[in-house]
Amino acid sequence: MKVLILGSGGREHALAWAVKRSRRVTEVVCAPGNGGIAQVARCVPVDLKDVDSMVRLAEAEQPTLTIVGPELPLSVGIVDALQQRGLRVFGPTREAAMLETSKAFAKQFMKRNKIPTANYAVCSSLAEFEKEISVFHPPLVVKADGLAAGKGVLICTSRNTALEAAHGLFSGALLGSAEAQVVIEEFLEGEEVSFLCLSDGTHVTPLVPAQDHKRIGEGDTGPNTGGMGVYSTDSILEPGMTEWILHHIAEPTVRGMAEEGMPFVGVLYCGLMMTARGPEVLEYNTRFGDPETQAILLRLESDLVDALDACIDGRLDQHELRWSPGASACVIASSSGYPGSYKSGLHITGLGSAALVPGVQVFHSGTARLDDRVVTAGGRVLGVTATGESLQQALDRAYQAMGEINFDGMYYRRDIGHRALAKQK
Ligand code: AMP
Ligand code: GLY
Repeated sequence: MKVLILGSGGREHALAWAVKRSRRVTEVVCAPGNGGIAQVARCVPVDLKDVDSMVRLAEAEQPTLTIVGPELPLSVGIVDALQQRGLRVFGPTREAAMLETSKAFAKQFMKRNKIPTANYAVCSSLAEFEKEISVFHPPLVVKADGLAAGKGVLICTSRNTALEAAHGLFSGALLGSAEAQVVIEEFLEGEEVSFLCLSDGTHVTPLVPAQDHKRIGEGDTGPNTGGMGVYSTDSILEPGMTEWILHHIAEPTVRGMAEEGMPFVGVLYCGLMMTARGPEVLEYNTRFGDPETQAILLRLESDLVDALDACIDGRLDQHELRWSPGASACVIASSSGYPGSYKSGLHITGLGSAALVPGVQVFHSGTARLDDRVVTAGGRVLGVTATGESLQQALDRAYQAMGEINFDGMYYRRDIGHRALAKQK
């Protein structure tokens, strides 16, 4: 099999690494890839927002299977375009990806299908927003309808700041382009859990749960990022909770999408808040998470390609995933300045000795090759990932490997997994 992976981050490096381990795969191509992915796949250029560019590449390469990593290609309909040309592809159609690409659609869908989520209102104008907001009590959450790479969610401590936020979103001042719809949401409290499932359009199989750390600073402080680290253990969810989430959230989502004529095939990522009332959906993503995937795939013992094939063929109910017990953790090394502006092209040292730490895989998020060197090429640079018999061991290994790595201004959080470790004490 020849597998084409679309994307260029740590998630795609982990996907390429897992795909390469499949006994059925002879060649992995990644577009556009990065400096680390180039060690496991042939990297070729592509424009991930341009369907024609991706279609041309797929037609030239003729992969047996294409896996779509990020949301952008899904949002422009790459899955529909490849399917129309008879190419096999893993990911949701443009319509099914609306669960992620339109927060208004997702909220209304959840309401129709009685899936637990925060109370909300969808507003199409500032006047409507002003009217709706009177029934919400601060703190409240204001969200842009469309994709905004984490920048479209504003937590507001008063109605006035919420109004300012809505004004900024409708006018375009906040995100650079004007939003047609803005969502107001009740603020939920609790711990967040990333609950990812595979779906074949009818059946749902959960992956192991993970917990992300979205803020840049230790103790969960400072601005939101794409994710600064993640861990995965089975004990993130108490006994019986996986079944509850499947029965009340994941399965009704997949059933609802099928009933509404938009069958969902791909990864359904339910971003959950574990509230006092039980789990509620904060958001859906319609793809593998980053950096969740790095930690999750390190625990996958069975063949990833077999599982994705079962999704495409609608026989996920006959497929079983096998996981290693214990734990995994991924710690992100970022560039100084991230999530604001940062420098690129800085030489990274110590990757070789980091890889020698037992149980460790270093996945590259934003790197490039310059002659025979690896240099920084993004805000998030590396995801140092490790497995262990316990969470403590996985974290110790990841941090030991991180200690070998250096580049100018390298930053990482030293407290990944802190909530779980505190609970164990
Ligand atoms: P999203 O882009 O929807 O994942 O939101 C980004 C982050 O904002 C989430 O991971 C949460 O930490 C936070 N968030 C979103 N919605 C809410 C909510 N209703 N209550 C509390 N926090 C929220
Ligand atoms: N880790 C959060 C995301 O992938 O959206």
